[in-house]
Amino acid sequence: MNISVSVRVPAKINLQLAVGPLRPDGYHDLVTVFHAVSLYDEVTVAPAGDGNDSVTVAGEGAPDVPADAGNLALRAVRALRSAVGEQGADWGGPVRVAITKRIPVAAGMAGGSADAAAALAACDELWQTRLGPAGLGRVAAQVGSDVPFSLLGGTAIGRGRGEQLTPAAAGPGQFHWVLAYAAGSLSTPLVYKTLDQLRADGEVPVAAAGLSEELMAALAAGDAARLGAALSNDLQAPALHLFPALRQTLAAGRALGALGGLVSGSGPACFFLARDAAHGAGLADALAATGACRAVTTAAGPAAGATVLPTVA
Ligand code: C5P
Repeated sequence: MNISVSVRVPAKINLQLAVGPLRPDGYHDLVTVFHAVSLYDEVTVAPAGDGNDSVTVAGEGAPDVPADAGNLALRAVRALRSAVGEQGADWGGPVRVAITKRIPVAAGMAGGSADAAAALAACDELWQTRLGPAGLGRVAAQVGSDVPFSLLGGTAIGRGRGEQLTPAAAGPGQFHWVLAYAAGSLSTPLVYKTLDQLRADGEVPVAAAGLSEELMAALAAGDAARLGAALSNDLQAPALHLFPALRQTLAAGRALGALGGLVSGSGPACFFLARDAAHGAGLADALAATGACRAVTTAAGPAAGATVLPTVA
């Protein structure tokens, strides 16, 4: 029996994020195109004997992640336990969860959801739940709207509150992204609320946008220039309203020759599309030199979803 299980899990960006009206349950219906990129957190889960569940967090933004029962990874562990029920003496015991972060916290890149997905995949392996991908996806959806996609990875269309996934037809090759981290964070509920307010005030249109055919065609063709022109995010207007400095970040990336640039999810991270890896590296250096953001990195997509790593002997 493995004494611990480690899982690597990617960040996500939204290539399209069309937000519908507020639902009675407090969520918004979405049509979104999720895209996993090669920026990974790593989560290791080990049995904790007779103790309680616990979590430690290291790496990018670690002090901003709660290391208590409210941590999304521990919530995922509890959700998995109650989904499967007691299976035997060794089953579903307390665990120690160790998270190493590279995905920025509260940045719109699903860092918390990634850690929850990784904890689910790790406990699924540790406990051999045999829930299967669909069963695990259902538990993931209880934990958060983006958690099912963090499990799945690749590129996928998300509907409902984002949890209903359809994998997108994979085109040839990879896309090369430049990720710009902001000095600060944004609350996802506040960004959605601000969108509702801006719409109520008539400052932004109440879009009824469906899935962008142009974006899907660009993805299928692996055409970066077309994809760059087709990127869209309804949460960008409220994110800019709450965090006006992002306008400079977006303007700098575009002025430096990005094929497209957008706020990532609810922000405040931004992403830019490059022609190829070399263009991405140059763009990242030039963007960092402008000082228009806190930090810059490069990543490629699509990337695989939560993946159990081979056990190190
Ligand atoms: O599902 P999750 O807990 O990650 O969502 C966080 C918050 O983001 C929700 O409580 C809600 O305010 C907002 N949200 C939304 N519509 C969605 C997804 C999230 O309004 N489709």
